[in-house]
Amino acid sequence: MPKLIIANWKENPVTLKEALVLAEASDAPCVAIAPPFPFLGAVRAVVKEANLAAQDVFYEEKGAFTGAVSASQLASVGVTYIIVGHSERRRLGDTDEIVAKKLRAALAQGIIPILCVGESREEHKAGKAEGAIRKQLDVAFSLLTKPYTLIPIIAYEPVWAISTEPNAEADTPKNAVYMIQYIKTFMSHVALPMLLKYIYGGSVNAKNAESFLKEKEIEGALVGGASLKQEEIKKIIETAYRY
Ligand code: 13P
Repeated sequence: MPKLIIANWKENPVTLKEALVLAEASDAPCVAIAPPFPFLGAVRAVVKEANLAAQDVFYEEKGAFTGAVSASQLASVGVTYIIVGHSERRRLGDTDEIVAKKLRAALAQGIIPILCVGESREEHKAGKAEGAIRKQLDVAFSLLTKPYTLIPIIAYEPVWAISTEPNAEADTPKNAVYMIQYIKTFMSHVALPMLLKYIYGGSVNAKNAESFLKEKEIEGALVGGASLKQEEIKKIIETAYRY
């Protein structure tokens, strides 16, 4: 089975026209495309094989929440995955508690959450990565009271390795595997045992994709910048099929 590739376009591209060209270039069964909200429907209409992902969700199902989008609304337009807890959303105000509500809201609507966890550069430098991630995981799963048949995804995404961060450094497959193993062990001790899938994100591109995806602990990649370039994403998809 190929590895899973999540193409997180973030606030890109600027026009629908560009979005559709990119969607066609990324169209493969192992891919989930996470475009900006306004492009979800049109992307769904042009892809034949890729799944649809949302970059965020609000946790209330409906009501007077101007600007918010709910998991049930996303489900009704065919979204299969929702990214929750991305560091760029945490920076804009999402606390661990908010992330927990979003995770629960996605699961309640039958959408697979992609929970992002990762340490900051300071935590990384200070050797505090495990502690930081433990807290994110602990709170994120704290609201779940029953098992779900869906398999949530945990994306280990160290903030210091995101390509758009100042002085970003790509992580090494060795560290990514170590951290994913750490997360797996931690998750095997949580109160509500569940099946989970583990992926890596942070400067994954056409050149280094193989070094991450060949690792059996890394079941896929969450790709930002490189997913905006047709040739890069095509090569990453080819790599995903080799493993
Ligand atoms: P880059 O692939 O650009 O480092 O972005 C990673 C990311 O934030 C994906 O969610």
